[in-house]
Amino acid sequence: MSPTRGFMKHWFAIEAIPLYAIIGFAMGGGAWYLTRLARGPNVVWTNNNREPWNTIKPDQSTKLINVNDKLEKSAFRLDMVIPLDSPQPTFVIPPSANILDTLEEIPEEGLSLTVTGAFRLPALIFGGGSFSHQYNNDSHLESLIPLRTVRTALRYGITAFDTSAYYGPSEIVLGTVLKGLEPEFPRSSYQLMTKCGRYGADREAFDYSPKTIRRSVERSLARLNTNYLDVVYLHDIEFVAEEIMPKRTGDHVSALDADSKLYGLAEGQEANIWGDGDQRVLDAYTELRKMKSEGLIKYIGITGMFCYPLPTLLRIALLILHIPPFEAVDILLSYSHSNLQNSAFHAFIAPLRARAHIAQLVVASPLNMGLLTPCIPAWHPAPAPLRAAVGAAVDACAAAGWPGGLPDVALGYAMRKVNQFGIRAQDEHEAAEDVPVLVGLSVPEEVHKSVKIWREVRQNMDLSKRQEIEQKVINIFNESGYLGWSWASPTVKP
Ligand SMILES: *[C@@H]1O[C@H](CO)[C@@H](O)[C@H](O)[C@H]1NC(C)=O
Ligand SMILES: *[C@@H]1O[C@H](CO)[C@@H](O)[C@H](O)[C@H]1NC(C)=O
Repeated sequence: MSPTRGFMKHWFAIEAIPLYAIIGFAMGGGAWYLTRLARGPNVVWTNNNREPWNTIKPDQSTKLINVNDKLEKSAFRLDMVIPLDSPQPTFVIPPSANILDTLEEIPEEGLSLTVTGAFRLPALIFGGGSFSHQYNNDSHLESLIPLRTVRTALRYGITAFDTSAYYGPSEIVLGTVLKGLEPEFPRSSYQLMTKCGRYGADREAFDYSPKTIRRSVERSLARLNTNYLDVVYLHDIEFVAEEIMPKRTGDHVSALDADSKLYGLAEGQEANIWGDGDQRVLDAYTELRKMKSEGLIKYIGITGMFCYPLPTLLRIALLILHIPPFEAVDILLSYSHSNLQNSAFHAFIAPLRARAHIAQLVVASPLNMGLLTPCIPAWHPAPAPLRAAVGAAVDACAAAGWPGGLPDVALGYAMRKVNQFGIRAQDEHEAAEDVPVLVGLSVPEEVHKSVKIWREVRQNMDLSKRQEIEQKVINIFNESGYLGWSWASPTVKP
């Protein structure tokens, strides 16, 4: 049964119960409804009001999540990461049959999302970092919007969710929502990917000790309401592994040929443990292997962020393969290096597969952490000239009349381009889609948009126009001197 028809069945079922007032108002205007929810709930889920949907009025909204009293609310809001030792917020899950359904959660008819690769991942992966205070506020996170967003995604076939112990309440929100959706989408119908070892912004906030790794994964299991995780990554290993590289910023593609020795990537260097940092990564990886053998984890991976991770990711993947038990890293997730401004990852795809034998690659942040948008987040490390180039790119997309502007062009590029490097791809019209793209999703509308762009790209709709505008944007970055440029983390040790 297609997701659409599954939805229609549900749609009719809920029409039979007295919720039409809600559905009626949701049909009246999604934007107004979102504004209503954002303004704060009138009807709150509490022990005294266990069925708030029965008392809800058309101009009221509900609060899905009930944070327990034990936890200081402000600590929960202000702290990006909930420490392993601190009390955890608990959340009340509404009986799923009663979770209001809305028109904005109906998938658009069209091409089904591809499921592909070694681990049968969907072409798009749900980025659950959106369920944190870095991207959304409390009233959003405590509303029904996360549930609607996840439900919409699942109905489209976005059946893999990425999160982390580091993303504030993300695991808790996701776990709550998925538990609520269990009757429509049982645990076996999707994959859960989380991360461990990173608990804050700077190096001091990384803890790769085997004890912490185990406790972190155990907490993730509890938060996500599951007894197994499909993937657990060591989060942003470049902060922990030794820095073997001749420079910190700029472009690191020479690591693959001329400078391979300086990056520890030459033939014969694979099994080198360069220092304590490397050893800490290996010890953490060994603990994850134990948890894999205990059946708690299916696949183990490593991730790298936007500083200088690619040579380090390759070096660590080679190291893991070349020391006992000589087993390759299962899966690798790369942030911010497969997008319009920086596509350095593409050069690393072949060696990651051929030399490090990694079965599954995933790329994330097609918008380069919000860089490729008209409103770049204030915390983004991009320097002023690069920000100016982004402004010029926004204008170029507007001048070309491209619907959706720069973010649309950037999403399409990430989905289109990375798969031209798939081992099975013959040419650029025959994408193999071995490499899923992880997209952060906050509201149902973003799910619809992402799938729409994926379909356009997959079906080569307006391909030459799309390529033309992509090239314009790439030229703007090239002229600014920031094409393919990576920045050093602002928090690296001196
Ligand atoms: C929360 O975010 C929404 C947008 O998602 C915004 O409209 C609303 O004003 C914000 N609420 C608060 C209390 O900041
Ligand atoms: C960037 O510009 C230089 C010349 O200024 C050119 O040689 C190079 O091909 C350009 N790169 C891309 C990717 O367009």
